[in-house]
Amino acid sequence: MDLGLADRTYVVTGGSSGVGLATVRALLDEGARVATCGRDAERLRRIGAHERLFTDVCDVRDADAVRDFVTASADALGGRIDGLVNNAGQSRMKRLDETTPDDWRDELELKFAGVLNPLQAARGHLRASDAASVVNVNAVLAKQPEPRLITTSAARAGILNLSKSLATELAPDGIRVNSVCLGLIDTGQWTRRHATADSGLSYADWQAELAADRGVALGRLGRADEVAYAVVSLLSPRASYITGTGIDVCGGIGRGIL
Ligand SMILES: NC(=O)c1ccc[n+]([C@@H]2O[C@H](COP(=O)([O-])OP(=O)(O)OC[C@H]3O[C@@H](n4cnc5c(N)ncnc54)[C@H](OP(=O)(O)O)[C@@H]3O)[C@@H](O)[C@H]2O)c1
Repeated sequence: MDLGLADRTYVVTGGSSGVGLATVRALLDEGARVATCGRDAERLRRIGAHERLFTDVCDVRDADAVRDFVTASADALGGRIDGLVNNAGQSRMKRLDETTPDDWRDELELKFAGVLNPLQAARGHLRASDAASVVNVNAVLAKQPEPRLITTSAARAGILNLSKSLATELAPDGIRVNSVCLGLIDTGQWTRRHATADSGLSYADWQAELAADRGVALGRLGRADEVAYAVVSLLSPRASYITGTGIDVCGGIGRGIL
């Protein structure tokens, strides 16, 4: 099936690693033009050059920097933006007693600014597109909180709620807004945790133990390209009647009905 993404332009935040990088690659494979950002120039450089790819250093928490990045992206890639993937970020592994007021403020700022700054910057372009789509990369934590990730769980729930409001408010402008809610996906987040866990287990054994501990029905962590498939599907003009909802990409984690 032709997803109808060729020659359209998409902005993916946090595309130098993991889910963002897999999404950038999937969109390029579909013939789309792609802009992405991250905070580290060297990691962005390692994506490699592509005639339909624009990269720039930008922290999504900085509204002015995001506005400049989005403007430069449209200028470099055909003067249009058809979709936005709000992906940049990371989680905060802390329980209540370890969490400071600064942790709460920083986490809420990252999660909310990471959606609102790119959206405000790209809104005029999205309104002008005939198939505008926003995908917020979220977590099943939004619906199934974990005490060991207390700030991230709460912030994720807020972002899921915000996504629904945005879908309603932006529908008259023809802008669809959806979420992908991730379980455990094998990216830099987990390789960094394995390195600091000092468990004595190989990464493969550590992953298998983690998947069992968290109740992942499929018994393994997901791959970034498995998430990218869901993101690209929601970006596609073929998904024209899907808004205000989300897809769980989580290998059947947990025992409840998500
Ligand atoms: N992997 C999982 O199991 C999982 C589960 C649930 C949700 N998620 C969410 O999925 C998204 C992608 O995570 P991932 O696992 O692919 O992580 P990752 O491999 O660590 O990639 C994160 C990307 O975001 C960028 N980034 C981080 N903070 C940024 C900021 N303030 N401004 C701009 N770019 C920023 C990073 O680049 P720089 O560091 O160079 O800025 C990198 O490109 C995140 O929002 C994460 O919270 C992941």
